Amino acid sequence: MNMRSYQAQDFEGCVGLFIDVFNAAPWNNEWTNSVATTFISDLTQTPGFRAFVALDEEGTINGVMLGRVKHWWRGQEYYIDEFYVKSSVQGQGIGTRLLDFASENLKTDGIHNIVLLTDERTPAYSYYLKRGYQEFSSIKFLHKGL
Ligand SMILES: CC(C)(COP(=O)(O)OP(=O)(O)OC[C@H]1O[C@@H](n2cnc3c(N)ncnc32)[C@H](O)[C@@H]1OP(=O)(O)O)[C@@H](O)C(=O)NCCC(=O)NCCS
Repeated sequence: MNMRSYQAQDFEGCVGLFIDVFNAAPWNNEWTNSVATTFISDLTQTPGFRAFVALDEEGTINGVMLGRVKHWWRGQEYYIDEFYVKSSVQGQGIGTRLLDFASENLKTDGIHNIVLLTDERTPAYSYYLKRGYQEFSSIKFLHKGL
């Protein structure tokens, strides 16, 4: 498995894998190709966009981390928008290697903190906790249907 920074040529692979992973359990989303393409295209055009991919020996994308560098008063931090590994190869260490690769790259560039949102009812929540991520229990994610 090779890890590297995202390149424009990775776009379609990132969209396809995103749909495969998040339309499957435990997320069971209902992304169409059209909406997912717009969603990820928007992310890639966000100021500070920075992303990393894991590729197998054939160059197929098996893991993706999409995010952005944010300028916060404590310094720069990286916000993970999406992080996903191909369903058939999850649990084989690819995600952890990609997370470590991204962390090292970001640290080298002076980014001192990684932040993200996830759903505590999914395996991803304990995944992050086991890897040293800490919960801000006082911060709540609110929404209101309109
Ligand atoms: C979360 C995810 C990126 C981790 O990548 P991975 O390559 O599967 O993880 P690794 O093999 O490096 O690490 C294995 C760990 O992941 C856990 N894991 C295995 N399958 C998983 C799954 N489908 N979802 C979340 N975690 C999973 C294992 O329990 C294991 O945990 P442990 O180290 O505490 O025992 C990946 O499983 C995934 O894409 N999950 C679905 C999408 C998702 O939930 N993304 C995060 C949204 S914030």
